[in-house]
Amino acid sequence: MIKPDCVRNKHVDEIRKIILAQGFSFVKEKDTKLDVASAKSFYQEHNGKEFFPSLIEFMTSGPVHPMVLEGEGAIKKWRALMGPTDSNKARITAPDSIRAAFGTDNQMNCVHGSDAPESAAREISFFFGDDKQASKQEPE
Ligand code: CMP
Repeated sequence: MIKPDCVRNKHVDEIRKIILAQGFSFVKEKDTKLDVASAKSFYQEHNGKEFFPSLIEFMTSGPVHPMVLEGEGAIKKWRALMGPTDSNKARITAPDSIRAAFGTDNQMNCVHGSDAPESAAREISFFFGDDKQASKQEPE
């Protein structure tokens, strides 16, 4: 998912080009906006953490661009392409990453990626479960 900071700064097209250049294909994508309840649900594993309220405020501050990416080892590969959570750390340890290039800090870090097949399934269903128009696949 491209987060509100990077959508607001008009980096979606540039990030899509980076994704394609890395050999991923796009299965689904759309523009949408999270309301408070959906943001809390999406990030439920972080509920109770000190940064949770500001994370929800940030994630509801503007549109997001969720995508379903496909490719060999996609989860690991996308997480490497994003770089570490903290964009400032990314600029040191992963200077070629998306967060190094476009992120601001630990919170406004431009992109999110699922961390395992189970969370990918949940997050894909969260954004695209009942949204047939978002699919670029042929109808079944
Ligand atoms: P993400 O990979 O989407 O997963 C959880 C998000 O919470 C993370 O990216 C950041 O946007 C945010 N986050 C994680 N740790 C912190 C932190 N220490 N302070 C503020 N925001 C954080």
